Amino acid sequence: MKKVKKIKIKNSNILYKKALKIIPYGSQTYSKGVKAFSDGVSPKFLAKGKGCEVWDVDGNKFIDYVMANQPLLLGYADEDVNQAVKKQLDLGSTFSVSNKLEIDVAELLVKHIPDADGARFGKNGADATSIAVRLSRAITKRDHIAFCGYHGWHDWFIGTTDLNSGIPKFNNQLAHSFAYNNISSLEKIFSKYKDKIACVIMEPITVNGPISKPSGSTKWKDYNKDNNFLTDVKKLCKKNGALLIFDEVVTGFRYDIGGAQKMFDVIPDLSCWAKAMSNGIPLSAITGRKKYIKYLEKTFFSFTYGGDCIGLAAAKATINKIEKKNVIDHLYKVGGRLKKGMNYLAKIYDLEEMIACAGYPCRSVMTIKKFGQYQKPLITKSLIQQELMFRGVLWSQYHSISYSHKNGHIDKSLNAFEDAFKKLNKIVKNNKKIENSLIGKPCETVFTRVADFQAVATSQKN
Ligand SMILES: Cc1ncc(COP(=O)(O)O)c(C=O)c1O
Repeated sequence: MKKVKKIKIKNSNILYKKALKIIPYGSQTYSKGVKAFSDGVSPKFLAKGKGCEVWDVDGNKFIDYVMANQPLLLGYADEDVNQAVKKQLDLGSTFSVSNKLEIDVAELLVKHIPDADGARFGKNGADATSIAVRLSRAITKRDHIAFCGYHGWHDWFIGTTDLNSGIPKFNNQLAHSFAYNNISSLEKIFSKYKDKIACVIMEPITVNGPISKPSGSTKWKDYNKDNNFLTDVKKLCKKNGALLIFDEVVTGFRYDIGGAQKMFDVIPDLSCWAKAMSNGIPLSAITGRKKYIKYLEKTFFSFTYGGDCIGLAAAKATINKIEKKNVIDHLYKVGGRLKKGMNYLAKIYDLEEMIACAGYPCRSVMTIKKFGQYQKPLITKSLIQQELMFRGVLWSQYHSISYSHKNGHIDKSLNAFEDAFKKLNKIVKNNKKIENSLIGKPCETVFTRVADFQAVATSQKN
């Protein structure tokens, strides 16, 4: 194994010190701050990005797998998106009445998304999930909701985690979490809150996709169109008079241009979109069946930057490029190479019981299990992250593949993973403590779920 030098992060640390004096936590997003990236070995400030590469304020260059928390489907500073945005800037960014771009992008959503008879736009993913939940409450005249996954920073969701300060407790009494691929956890909610559940809001894919039986294999290939978790959830919603909302903020335009609902042919009543739809320029959307989405005429969803044309211009350029360039096929191909390579390396370095690259190739995740004396996956993650950082790979456990990640980037990254796995193998073989090899502070979870079924014990999301 080549000896690598610790990277210099002097300028990052100077800026961080400065930021901390005036910016609480020093970052605008939890999962972009020191909790998520091992302090002492990771850059804290990036200066520029192009394609799938970024440069930090100390001049270190990285292949990025975080991609700004996943929206950069095409890559940083994509020429086509930039051109569309620059053109729109010269025409005006936001107006006093509507702009035709709102119709253009709504038409693209209606064309591609199965549930979309219409659309309205927001800025953050949480705008879309919040209005979807509000709409379901308005339509059903019920207050309780069931959820599965991460849905944003608003009270009803984050109130169920340990980051719930400032959130009135009643929120927790109304929001109930269930476990993915475990239909009985949702059945229990429906029976406990009979005729009270307004909607089920869920990420249609978490890491792996829907499976036929809760206790069966969790391989995504086990999907069965007529007998799977998503179909069962839909049936339960129908039976209980609740709306089904798919939170496609991550899956949308990445797993399939029409989202997970198109992949699995399970059409929800409403769905939420953001991230990849506009390649990192803020935009989100709610879509849905006509009989539900029409309630937006009288359910309040309105803000100054609704219909902001910069995000819309970016979305139009992004969606057109996804279509034209077969972007999603590329994500699966290149992401498949990474996934296969990583699992091969885990095998040859005897780490299969600890480490696996799981999920869909377009956004795979490294799962890290407790093993022997190594009972803290976050410590194992911190070591891998540290070794990757030193080898020019910016990594936070998932692989947000973009159109800009090419085979060469994947191969370079696999070399870095190989070195990291070699180091871990040596530690495990010699029964040593991983902590002794950490140079920085281990990364932490952003929050822990505290209510209900403990469906997802911890999360690294925003
Ligand atoms: C599945 C899912 N839904 C909703 C959100 C919230 O989106 P935003 O952070 O843009 O508000 C996220 C963010 O990570 C997400 O992953």
